[in-house]
Amino acid sequence: MSEGTSLQWGGRFATPPDAALLAFGSSLEDDLVFAAFDVLGSRAHVASLAAGDVITTAAAAALDDALVLVGDEVLTGDFAAWARASGAEDVHGAIDARVRELQPGYGEWLHAGRSRNDQVATALALYARDRAARGRSTSVAIARRALAEARTTLDARTVLAATTHWQPAQPILLAFWLEAVAEMFARAARRFERVHADARAFSPLGAGACSGSTLPLDRERSAQELGFSAPSRNALDTVGDRDVALDLQHAVARALVAASRVSEELVLWCTPAFGYATLDDAASTGSSLMPQKRNPDPFELVRASAARVAGAYAGAVASTTGIALSYHRDLQETKSLILRGTERGLAALDAFASAFAHTHWNAEAMARRANDGYVVATDIADALIARGVTARAAHAAVGAAVARAAAEGRPLSRSDLAAIAAATGIEPPFEAPLDALASVLAKRTIGSTNPAAIRVAIDGLEAELAGEVTDPFAAG
Ligand code: ARG
Repeated sequence: MSEGTSLQWGGRFATPPDAALLAFGSSLEDDLVFAAFDVLGSRAHVASLAAGDVITTAAAAALDDALVLVGDEVLTGDFAAWARASGAEDVHGAIDARVRELQPGYGEWLHAGRSRNDQVATALALYARDRAARGRSTSVAIARRALAEARTTLDARTVLAATTHWQPAQPILLAFWLEAVAEMFARAARRFERVHADARAFSPLGAGACSGSTLPLDRERSAQELGFSAPSRNALDTVGDRDVALDLQHAVARALVAASRVSEELVLWCTPAFGYATLDDAASTGSSLMPQKRNPDPFELVRASAARVAGAYAGAVASTTGIALSYHRDLQETKSLILRGTERGLAALDAFASAFAHTHWNAEAMARRANDGYVVATDIADALIARGVTARAAHAAVGAAVARAAAEGRPLSRSDLAAIAAATGIEPPFEAPLDALASVLAKRTIGSTNPAAIRVAIDGLEAELAGEVTDPFAAG
């Protein structure tokens, strides 16, 4: 197809467009990803045109047939090849051109009352809905996996030393760490749910270029066809609004921040020095030089991809600042940043889910080091406070005992408890946890690492995750 017929404008131009500038302005490679959504939007537009008697029933049927065929071509990949060869400026122009080619005589009616401005906004809303459902389901899958692992390791009472600043801090159960991972991804899932709900609220379709249409488009009808609650209220706002798409990208970036943080931990856990976790061969990579290497590359890539997606999000938001109301071509850049960031981000989230499922826990390695670093010191100080010693005096006395034990290269013992009791004026017997498991069992607050508290957390989150977001309008 020649450029002349694939472009949707040109009547008032005396010369053809500069080829390099036209290529610079093309968004086809970026927006091909929502071809399926534009097909949905186009079919709803045909229904709206027909409901308003703008086109005949025969035209509506012909256009719909063509769009169904284009939808099939999108699935097989044939449409992408056709669109690239067509010289169209973007996916919207390409679909319009393909429909005109398939249905000459009827195809020319498709764009009645429509602008690419309301098309882009509609496709973005449908895309946001679909990808939010996907992000939600991946996040829920990760959370569920973490909860299941938490349940199986809970009974084994696998202890490890939780760190702050990567320094040994306090004993926890592995189940507690796993439940924490589940909480992070449950929050990610909730963010995706909010995006999903917002992306179903208002239909941009029928807003036109910026002020609505003089044709009797049935916007209620097209909104309903696409599963929106209602047509948007203000066309001027609608064509320049990228909020839902940005919120989607934000939700992806935030889910990846969670994945990145867990990945950081697992990269370290998979080192021989730590040995807390093992990644299956299927998820590991080797070195081209060092024959012994097994590297946890997926977690390293996920760790960094959060930065890439957050950067794309920052760029997308920045690209909308200072844009006057209505549509301006700058928004094509916004869309590009959103689509590329979101696609890569969701791929990274999938990769994390897969690598996480390939991760196994080495309880012995954790238990072996669970008591390193005097991690029961806080429990001993707490026991003093419970006996009436002030927090400051307790902290100082236990700190001094830790210094003595460290100088002698030994753990804290019963004789240290006796010395601490004497230093703080506590009548013997003075009891306090001296090992990691005793510490965990002594914890008594809601949300603590005590096994009973962990079970409450697992049960609560599992019940919350029982619901599913399903999207009958999902495509692509
Ligand atoms: N390719 C454009 C985009 O992605 C389509 C909208 C063009 N609208 C216009 N008025 N030139 O934003």
